[in-house]
Amino acid sequence: MTAHAQNPDEKVGNRFTCRKLCESSSGVLKLDSFGKLIYSSNTATGEAISKIESHTPKIEASESVNAGKLSEVRIVIGPHPNTIEHSIRRIELYVGEENRPFNPVLLAVVDLTPVYNDPDIKLNLKLSKSGTLYAVGYCNLHGLWEGHKEIKVTQ
Ligand SMILES: [Fe+2]
Repeated sequence: MTAHAQNPDEKVGNRFTCRKLCESSSGVLKLDSFGKLIYSSNTATGEAISKIESHTPKIEASESVNAGKLSEVRIVIGPHPNTIEHSIRRIELYVGEENRPFNPVLLAVVDLTPVYNDPDIKLNLKLSKSGTLYAVGYCNLHGLWEGHKEIKVTQ
């Protein structure tokens, strides 16, 4: 048996305030879906709303690229603190391609060392199908955040 919070921002037990968690009768917190742990500007609620601007990855890329040709994509997160105690630790980039049976495709993973690296990366992509780029950033204090951008590939 599982007890769900009635209010999206309601405390679950006395340990967490997260609309994405539920608590089993044994008191062990569990997720109903890992995907619901990824925040975005559309899904953030409560305290997370104040984190949208500083945590949502921004994807800078041409809206239209040529198939099979290298095209630069920049992903930026922030301004965000960059200290040992609090920083963006990882950026992952995926593409969901049109008409592909299973998505997404993992394009890149960049691990960032606090202080030494800023969450500002550039990649050269060679896409063959139109789709949507999804960047996921991980903050050690504020979790996973997603930003996305549609990209058209011309043959
Ligand atoms: Fe953060």
